[in-house]
Amino acid sequence: MSVSRRDFVERAALLAAAGFVPRPFPPAAAPAPRPAGFRGRPVVVASANGLRGVQVAYDRILAGEDPLDAVIAGVNIQELDPDDQSVGLGGLPNEEGVVQLDASCMHGPTKRAGAVASLEGIATPSLVAKAVMDYTDHVMLVGPGAGKFARAMGFKEQNLLTEKSRQDWMRWKARLNPNDFWLDHDDDLKIKFTTGTINMNAVTAAGDVASVTTTSGMAYKIPGRIGDSPIVGAGQYCDNLVGAAGSTGRGEANIKTCASFLAVEFMRQGLAPRDALLRTLERVVAMTEPRLLRPDGRPKFDLEFYAIAKDGRYAGATLYAGGRFAVCDERGARLEEAAHLFPR
Ligand code: GLY
Repeated sequence: MSVSRRDFVERAALLAAAGFVPRPFPPAAAPAPRPAGFRGRPVVVASANGLRGVQVAYDRILAGEDPLDAVIAGVNIQELDPDDQSVGLGGLPNEEGVVQLDASCMHGPTKRAGAVASLEGIATPSLVAKAVMDYTDHVMLVGPGAGKFARAMGFKEQNLLTEKSRQDWMRWKARLNPNDFWLDHDDDLKIKFTTGTINMNAVTAAGDVASVTTTSGMAYKIPGRIGDSPIVGAGQYCDNLVGAAGSTGRGEANIKTCASFLAVEFMRQGLAPRDALLRTLERVVAMTEPRLLRPDGRPKFDLEFYAIAKDGRYAGATLYAGGRFAVCDERGARLEEAAHLFPR
């Protein structure tokens, strides 16, 4: 898969349509020194819905762009895609039909992070999270404050509830209670739930690391519910001395284990990315409350992790077999099978 100049131009047009007015960002602090003789290679890993995005991010890294700008450009594709109902424009709404978005990002070379949660009306929360990082002394803004900040930064509001997501929400609402005054549809259409999200992590040839996660969160959530994606250390984490990790899936399970931080810490202790992610998943299982366990003691939900090490090793891992993740390196963009703890 190659990304043409046209793709970049289209993305710029989409960002403009979403109301984002690019500004010159302040210069980053001096990057951390590299160990003598360090030899790395650029790699981008993401959740499977990031297949288009990993190529975009990789090409940008090869062109010399900052790794955080590169992965944010990668996830912007899903944020602006109305057909991805797990994130940004077209994301499935909360129980009142309002799309509330969460995102966080981290920049390894300068040890900075930014996040927004319960953000309404702005399609690209990843860019707002980066603006929090670049322009404020804070790490996280939420709710109306995050919205005010985004508007002050030049992001324009739009209605994020697409017609398809509105109809899915109405079907969900109609079927909630057989005794209410909403008539249930008599079709056998499956009600779609998602804890889908996009996480993307990158390392450059110089060993600089960045990570970003963005989501519309759990479909039909209680208004104000915040998942793992905007929590630094849960939805994503990076440390320029070690690598980066991020997650998609049931955020509540992830928050309790600070899972992305934990995965990076396991890598710091010397584990390869795959083993670090499997150890992290074991911790998730150990921390699962009984009501969420099946009779065989395994979780009723799934959770996916993605990681890169500073030297370019990478992995994806899921609780149950069959998961895939996106990767792009010198062999091009592709989906690879994730490691797993349990057969499906
Ligand atoms: N991992 C996305 C969420 O739970 O909100």
